[in-house]
Amino acid sequence: MSAPIGVFDSGYGGLTILKELKKQLPQHDYIYLGDNARAPYGSRSFETVYQYTLEAVKWFFDNGCSLVVLACNTASAKALRNIQQLDLPILAPHKRVLGVIRPSSEVLGNYSVSGHVGIMATSGTVQSESYIMEMAKFFPTIKVHQQACPMWVPLIENGEYDTPGADYYVKQYLDQLFSQSKDIDTILLACTHYPLLAPKIAAQLPNGVKLVSQGEIVAESLVKYLQNHPEIDQNCSKNGKIDFFTTDNAKTFEKQASAFFGQKIAANHTDLA
Ligand code: DGL
Repeated sequence: MSAPIGVFDSGYGGLTILKELKKQLPQHDYIYLGDNARAPYGSRSFETVYQYTLEAVKWFFDNGCSLVVLACNTASAKALRNIQQLDLPILAPHKRVLGVIRPSSEVLGNYSVSGHVGIMATSGTVQSESYIMEMAKFFPTIKVHQQACPMWVPLIENGEYDTPGADYYVKQYLDQLFSQSKDIDTILLACTHYPLLAPKIAAQLPNGVKLVSQGEIVAESLVKYLQNHPEIDQNCSKNGKIDFFTTDNAKTFEKQASAFFGQKIAANHTDLA
């Protein structure tokens, strides 16, 4: 029986996480779903992101998944807690849904010497204050500076991440972040789309500031999670197979996906809800 790990994002961004999961857990099967037809999620309300994400989680369960990773900060920030606390106990008490904010917060403070970290994220993630709350649990003395970057996901989803327009918006949001504090020495790209802008961001960073992406961190955390929960790991099928789905046009998804995933893929269309 096929029981892949579900990997979800509003669009293409979760592919930057899946790429690392495949590196660190190559034997597992995965099913990726990008809700491209309704992306971006970053500016949508709590209720809408929760409703869309819950529809996706049900879709993964219907497709055999026992474990789903919300490879999207916005969905993790706005939907994960409700899904874990309200929906899972009724829907599927033995299944698990994990996010990307907690594993990132667990290690982020270790990168900083100054005690000031920057979180660059969608407006939704910033407004939820999820990073502030999670970081306070693991690194109570670290000061978290948040910066919403509402133009970055639209630029990236539209394939405009290597243009002068992207340079302009990278500078704008970095300037805004550093105007909060000159002591920031670590920046987390707290949106799974942002690694595509990493070269441009790195080129504009002050010397000595570290840029952290989430893929490796989330993958390392999942490796540990599965070691600590063999009962969950046993329910995952392991044929090294990955299937890709989008709620929008499959051909368009195939064209854009390789920039995020690092190799060509074949995609299928699906409808949610
Ligand atoms: N990639 C998603 C994230 O990590 C969200 C992008 C969006 O749909 O706004 O936050």
